[in-house]
Amino acid sequence: MTLHRPFTVSQIRVENARTRTLVFREPLPAQPGQFIMAWLPGVDEKPYSIANAEPLTLTVAAVGPFSEALHRLDMGGRVWVRGPLGQGFHVAPAAERLLLVGGGYGVAPLLFLAREAVTQGCAVEVCIGARTAEDVLLVSDFAAAGATVRIATEDGSLGVPGLVTATVEAAIATARPDMVCACGPAPMLEAVAQLCADHKLPCQLSWEAHLRCGLGLCGSCELPDSGWLVCRDGPVAGG
Ligand SMILES: Cc1cc2nc3c(=O)[nH]c(=O)nc-3n(C[C@H](O)[C@H](O)[C@H](O)COP(=O)(O)OP(=O)(O)OC[C@H]3O[C@@H](n4cnc5c(N)ncnc54)[C@H](O)[C@@H]3O)c2cc1C
Ligand code: FES
Repeated sequence: MTLHRPFTVSQIRVENARTRTLVFREPLPAQPGQFIMAWLPGVDEKPYSIANAEPLTLTVAAVGPFSEALHRLDMGGRVWVRGPLGQGFHVAPAAERLLLVGGGYGVAPLLFLAREAVTQGCAVEVCIGARTAEDVLLVSDFAAAGATVRIATEDGSLGVPGLVTATVEAAIATARPDMVCACGPAPMLEAVAQLCADHKLPCQLSWEAHLRCGLGLCGSCELPDSGWLVCRDGPVAGG
């Protein structure tokens, strides 16, 4: 059983109108793709991807009561954290070229992965998809990490107009990757899986579900009729 530990907010970055990055004072050694359960006593407990481990960093979109409570935290505010939990991305040491595909706050765990992979000598390219330019997250962080960035927006306000899959096709045509890793909404993951199958490329996909225990005990996060638990067997599948 993983116990809760208090983490203290040491930096708050406003990414866009509804997304903030919380940097905590404390480190949490973890693998890219793993997640934590964040607990605010009296509010709720919810899962968040680890955007950076040392120090622990979370990128949070305010969409409901819990995420809005996280946004209300000031410097010095405390969150009780369980983790790291789940199975992260696995990039073989021999991998030379990695293609990352992110939608929405799905880019958060990919930034952690990009940093680790670049450090290991991997060439990293990231395709970021969003509805509008305002929704495109962490571009300068990926660039600072040494990754090449392609952007697609549904309204055409930044990068290639349309879905992120167009940029994935272009990236594969330019330089075939050894591995594709993706995190974002389920329809995006399904489209990426199809593209990888078409191009015979291995892929790892990070799935979301309704998590409660985060420990493989309650069954609430099972992908439909699969026995596959997002919190225990994932969130990352494939490889
Ligand atoms: C493994 C895992 C990793 C996650 N990582 C992150 C992360 O890094 N950052 C993050 O912000 N969230 C992440 N989430 C989602 C997070 O756990 C919460 O579900 C989310 O913050 C909403 O909780 P809430 O109580 O504020 O709103 P809720 O009351 O749960 O949701 C309010 C409404 O918004 C919808 N909704 C939920 N999430 C989103 C969204 N992102 N965009 C648009 N609508 C949404 C819900 O369907 C609902 O209709 C992750 C979830 C999982 C399972
Ligand atoms: S959240 Fe309880 S089994 Fe996954």
